[in-house]
Amino acid sequence: MKKWLTIGLVVVFVVALAGCGKAKENTEGAPEEITYSIATDASYAPMESMDKEDIVGLDIDFLAEVMKEAGLKYEVRNTGWDPMLLSVKAGKEYQAGISSISITDERKQTYDYTVPYFESENMIITREGSPIKSALDLKDKKVAVQLATTADTLMSKIMGNDNSSLKKFDSNTIALLELQKGGVDAVVADFVVILDYIKKNPKEKFVSIEDKVNFTSEYYGILLPKGSDLKAKLDPAIKKVVESSKYKEAYKKWTGKDLDTTKLLE
Ligand code: ARG
Repeated sequence: MKKWLTIGLVVVFVVALAGCGKAKENTEGAPEEITYSIATDASYAPMESMDKEDIVGLDIDFLAEVMKEAGLKYEVRNTGWDPMLLSVKAGKEYQAGISSISITDERKQTYDYTVPYFESENMIITREGSPIKSALDLKDKKVAVQLATTADTLMSKIMGNDNSSLKKFDSNTIALLELQKGGVDAVVADFVVILDYIKKNPKEKFVSIEDKVNFTSEYYGILLPKGSDLKAKLDPAIKKVVESSKYKEAYKKWTGKDLDTTKLLE
């Protein structure tokens, strides 16, 4: 009888011990399951735009590859441009922003950035037959830009910040609609966006104008709050993805152009 009691106790003890081990594994041994919230302004096709309920575009495909490579869970939300900038700065609701965001010295004072993943340049869109040949020709014209973008900074410098002929919109889509309506003579924005818009509106007879003197190369990075620990996780993943064939294919699919990584990998 005593023997059975002892065996019984030992069994109970062993089972309890095994249970303990299990519980420990689940709480401390399992990887952290944080879902990062990433903000975007989905009105910048082909980089980020809404397709019914879905956010789509090259940035979105690129981000998926990067997060897979880094082994991180995430969700992307369409917040609009200005709310994205504000919330990434605070770093609470959103831990990062992806939105064709050029790395600039001015923004670097407030934010951290990942390494660059895309080379861009501003470009002019105007109507066929317009006399505009360069950014300086826009001085006495009506121009639309998206507020607080590099196009805004560049055109404010050329036209004067308090020039009422320079119309600043919260969304680049609205700036382009203003051109379509005839409210302005030109829009300045990133070249892939201008070329995409011209291609999608063939009846409008829009043309693009390059200005390699006044508009120089810019590089997109993922925007992070200052001191974010995501930088150490994302940078190596981005470097891998930039060199991958997946990114090359996505770049071609969304922009119609061949990816040139020479400057990105310098
Ligand atoms: N590259 C420009 C900048 O960083 C414009 C980006 C606008 N992006 C957007 N999703 N609307 O200022």
